[in-house]
Amino acid sequence: MIETKGDGEPKGASGLQNHHEHMLGHGFYNKHSREQGLANQHALPLLAEAVNAVAPAIAAADFRIADYGSAQGRNSLLPVKTAIKAIKKRWQPAPDITVIHTDLPGNDWTTLFQTVLTSPDSYLQGEAGVFSLASGASVYSRIFPANHIALGYSAIVEHWLSRRPPAIADHIWSTRTSGRTRAAWAAQARADWRGFLSHRAAELIPTGRLVVVGSGADPRGLSGAEPLIDLVNRVLEAMVREGSLLADEYGEMAIPTYYRTETEWREPFEDEGFLAASPLRLLHYQEFAEDDVYLAEYERSGDAQAFAREYTAFFRAAFEPSLFHALDGERGQAQRQQLIEEFSSRLREALAQDPPGYSARWWLNLMVIAKE
Ligand SMILES: C[S@@+](CC[C@H](N)C(=O)[O-])C[C@H]1O[C@@H](n2cnc3c(N)ncnc32)[C@H](O)[C@@H]1O
Repeated sequence: MIETKGDGEPKGASGLQNHHEHMLGHGFYNKHSREQGLANQHALPLLAEAVNAVAPAIAAADFRIADYGSAQGRNSLLPVKTAIKAIKKRWQPAPDITVIHTDLPGNDWTTLFQTVLTSPDSYLQGEAGVFSLASGASVYSRIFPANHIALGYSAIVEHWLSRRPPAIADHIWSTRTSGRTRAAWAAQARADWRGFLSHRAAELIPTGRLVVVGSGADPRGLSGAEPLIDLVNRVLEAMVREGSLLADEYGEMAIPTYYRTETEWREPFEDEGFLAASPLRLLHYQEFAEDDVYLAEYERSGDAQAFAREYTAFFRAAFEPSLFHALDGERGQAQRQQLIEEFSSRLREALAQDPPGYSARWWLNLMVIAKE
């Protein structure tokens, strides 16, 4: 259980006990994921179009929407609301609509349910005939019965790999690898994307649509967050030099994410064997660098400390559990937390020195996939 101080900063246990957890719990991700929230907004027109493409007769009785990798739910509210609006516009009377949020077993489900059931921004507010459920099964497994889902949606999820490939020498970020290590990470990402697609192929109804907002890499293979993550790496290296972090712990640290280039996202759809065996087709692809909401805020306010606080919280919300999973099991909970706090305050201090220099422009890949 993660406790939070009044200001929403996590204290006490860090959520490390469960490696089936990537995001910081207790609503912390919901509060510090504005960047991901903006990414979701790019998908709204695609979601409305996707609803209109589903075969009329198939969906009319009960329209099921899967939200693959929901985290604590806040960023899913508007996308789901947009889909519901399109469904209700298209079908009168409207079909019953079921929304199923999925994430890992250790996800902060309490916050997810509170958010969906009680947030004034929830898609449930003022709607009749809309039902909300959840599943804790991995997106790299089958989650639903065959031919079940009319609209699948997944935002900023598939860069998380199903397992962590070998550790990375002198870094924690997959885009900073080369040679055989890079190849091992790329191979895992390829297998996971294909696995993800094969399960969704079974779960979608014929004519069903899958809208994916991917966190990926530009043509040079960069995620756009390298200035931030290189800084994180330098902070960790300094902690090793000064002895607060063990070299062995640092050696095992690597965030299990991989940022696919356009070629890698498209790879299955360019492979004749895949196309012959799979009913899925890639209908739409676009990619671009996202604006940094935290930098924009800094440019308005000129407050470098506020930037550093928000940016550190963003990093922690997204990556802390997976990064510090590698800490020595001998460390007690209090010692682990102390080390994480030391890391966070060093990161904050460094970020405040040069907000524009550490700003991230995350590379996004938007895809619409159809089941024929
Ligand atoms: C960056 S968050 C995105 C959450 C939300 N969709 C959004 O846009 O804010 C990534 C989510 O993917 C989830 N995730 C990672 N690996 C997963 C897996 N194998 N199966 C299901 N969810 C997974 C994480 O637990 C986390 O909640």
